[in-house]
Amino acid sequence: MDTKKFEQSHFQGKSFLAVKDFAPEEIEYLIDFSLHLKYLKKHNIPHHYLAGKNIALLFEKTSTRTRAAFTTAAIDLGAHPEFMGSNDIQLGKKESVEDTAKVLGSMFDGLEFRGFLHQNVEDLAKYAGVPVWNGLTDDWHPTQMIADFMTIKENFGYLKGLNLTFVGDGRNNVANSLLVASAMLGVNARILAPKALQTTPEVLAIAQKFADQTGAELLITDDMEVAVKNTNVIYTDVWVSMGESNWEERVNLLKPYQVNMDMIKLSGTPENELIFLHCLPAFHDTKTEYGEEIFEKYGITEMEVSDEVFNSKYARQFDEAENRMHSIKAIMAATLGNLFVPKV
Ligand code: CP
Ligand code: NVA
Repeated sequence: MDTKKFEQSHFQGKSFLAVKDFAPEEIEYLIDFSLHLKYLKKHNIPHHYLAGKNIALLFEKTSTRTRAAFTTAAIDLGAHPEFMGSNDIQLGKKESVEDTAKVLGSMFDGLEFRGFLHQNVEDLAKYAGVPVWNGLTDDWHPTQMIADFMTIKENFGYLKGLNLTFVGDGRNNVANSLLVASAMLGVNARILAPKALQTTPEVLAIAQKFADQTGAELLITDDMEVAVKNTNVIYTDVWVSMGESNWEERVNLLKPYQVNMDMIKLSGTPENELIFLHCLPAFHDTKTEYGEEIFEKYGITEMEVSDEVFNSKYARQFDEAENRMHSIKAIMAATLGNLFVPKV
């Protein structure tokens, strides 16, 4: 018998800060484990892999999905989640990341962090002594990736060889993460963005290294026709991310890149082979304060996605949002749950 296979899981005790820090097989494993945990949840089968654990949820930036997903996932796993917003704790204002990490790591078994600087989540992981999960930084959004590719796999049954097009701010945390995760999973990724917002050479180099291993084809372009041709997934995100405020510049740059029915048609992809994804929140109407303000200033009622596409048969963004919970559960259980995970 190959006893090596039964060594302690190499996920154990690890932090999840960016998809690039894991091996492609490990990312695949987390996607499949998420699907399994979704099955357990839907069939009311208990999965208390984190019974008795305490989880701290640190949020410098606001959140609906990530906060809700970490909270409910922790409770389903038998753990106790504790929310700590930026106005609740000393972090950054009166206490360094290093000192905060040491204190929280001595009381909590795992820490989630959403914030601005990626270096802060790296430092938390360095000093906490417990797994740290990145709930989004300016650079990366890794937990989102497990939910996204889980949703794609649910729809197509496989990942390798599919085409994915991200449209919008090609330099933001979601675009960066999608490019790297696609490359790792053998998904052909196209970033459709105006030149000023295209992938940086640093991020492209990280993705290309994985693509060389998996055979994924990567394309960074402002040519819409090429970017959407035969694509299977059209994905977009807000034009202005948290921490930014340059609305006018972005509206002007990105208006031609709105995901709408013309773009869907331009793909030429058969109806049942194309889905629309969005990490959310989305500006697809004027039912928000920002949406109203943008309408008043720039006269547009929809931004990155038209209301028609958002409510179309292609739309899977709410399945994707639900999957945040199942996938975050998988990430926490795999890294903190003393699970038997054969070498993947
Ligand atoms: N997709 C996502 O991270 O959503 P929240 O900002 O609501 O957490
Ligand atoms: N790029 C967006 C993602 C939100 C989930 C932001 O950082 O605001």
